[in-house]
Amino acid sequence: MAAENYGRPVFNDAELLRKGAYIDGEWVETAPESFEVTNPANGEVIATLPEQPVSEVERAIDVAHAAFKTFKNTAPRERARWLRNMYNLMLENIDDLAKIIAWENGKAMSDATGEVRYAASYYEWYAEEAPRMYGTTIQPGNPTNRVITMRQPVGVCGIICPWNFPSAMITRKAAAALAAGCTVVIKPDSSTPLSALALAYLMEKAGFPKGVFNVVLSHTRTPEFGLRLCESPKVKKITFTGSTAVGKILMKQSASTLKKLSLELGGNAPLIVFADADMDQAVEQAIASKFRGLGQTCVCCNRLYVHSSIIDEFAERIAAEVRKFVVGNGLDPKNTHGCLINGKAVAKVEHHKQDAVSRGAKVVIEGGLLPELGPNFYAPVVLSHVPHDAVVAKEETFGPLCPIFSFDTIEEVVGYANDSEFGLASYVFSKNIDTVYTVAEALESGMVSANTGLFSDCSIPFGGVKESGFGREGSLYGIEDYTVIKTLNIGSLPPRI
Ligand code: SIN
Repeated sequence: MAAENYGRPVFNDAELLRKGAYIDGEWVETAPESFEVTNPANGEVIATLPEQPVSEVERAIDVAHAAFKTFKNTAPRERARWLRNMYNLMLENIDDLAKIIAWENGKAMSDATGEVRYAASYYEWYAEEAPRMYGTTIQPGNPTNRVITMRQPVGVCGIICPWNFPSAMITRKAAAALAAGCTVVIKPDSSTPLSALALAYLMEKAGFPKGVFNVVLSHTRTPEFGLRLCESPKVKKITFTGSTAVGKILMKQSASTLKKLSLELGGNAPLIVFADADMDQAVEQAIASKFRGLGQTCVCCNRLYVHSSIIDEFAERIAAEVRKFVVGNGLDPKNTHGCLINGKAVAKVEHHKQDAVSRGAKVVIEGGLLPELGPNFYAPVVLSHVPHDAVVAKEETFGPLCPIFSFDTIEEVVGYANDSEFGLASYVFSKNIDTVYTVAEALESGMVSANTGLFSDCSIPFGGVKESGFGREGSLYGIEDYTVIKTLNIGSLPPRI
């Protein structure tokens, strides 16, 4: 364990640390009120930012709406160049951007650096997709007609982002939107707005026109900001990553204007290890999935189902890896894992642990609170033979609790895995292709990962089913969510010659 107190990091380009919102290419540093951003590792105030009035969201929407009129007609190749510039700029500033993430989010520098690379990759990917928005030619019933479809940018997009990936959840949405020719108003989470502002600073350098990329700031008025974005007739699409509860609110609010929506919501990912799995691979990959960002991703495995014949060996092997973790301030590169975002997150992990233990789960690694490091630090817990009625089987922990459940048959484990209102990611480990394929087809989730715990990549369609939401981000499909299909029917043509 490491308890050193890292203060303010040293940045190569201190200009990346912005002090205000970004609207119409201008920094808005003042407002009648302000809010503080704190480092979750030690509670230190790292920034004081304007608590913007709701009128500023409306101004940002107006600006994005005006910018859309010209931006939608820019050449896709030009948009591709700006997107590519942004990719290059992010990689040039990778250390600074990672420090900002680790500072405001608390995740380890290794995770934060990985996030910047991941975030930047969406700009690279969509630089390549921007010139490839294809339509179709259709043979209509009437021989004197010709029909073509074209994809057009949907318009102004409201982007509402979470704190767990302060950079990547913005770029995954914004890069696709901008590639399509849309303009954006971004509301970052108030715990981690500095990454969003650093991106805005780089967007300017990348050459994007004013008004195309706007970032508004609020802590206390977040629900009102969401409401304005959802109800404004000028905003044509809302895209949100966060909780299912908030996703449902945004969907209701968007009904008044029938907005296009993409919702990437909660998960409760099962990870299934069959008896014929490669044990080394399953252990390594389960660790990578479970403890990425200290368990604070929507795709972290939440429930590990391990065949009864190997559960004890698997649990011991997982524990041996967890014992190697070094938990501490994320900014210290020697720490493998940082802290949780806040006290509520800590309380949830503790609740899930206590509940499982009280129902008879076997404690393999006790873990728990780490008051000597700070109130948001929590040492990873490993439990095995967790009863299937434990709260953790139903609810997403979003933290470093690794609960291992036992199963015997393929039908039984598919039943456990699908017994959830969520359906984002699932994992299956087996060396038998029949098992992998059968289970992958049966799992009710938007993404199934076989024999690897890390599948996130700009090239894959990311998204869920059931109450994990809808819409796909990244991949060739991601851009579609920011477009509408227009049908052009040309009629009364002379007979073909
Ligand atoms: C998330 O936690 O919402 C995103 C995780 C990822 O993109 O891998």
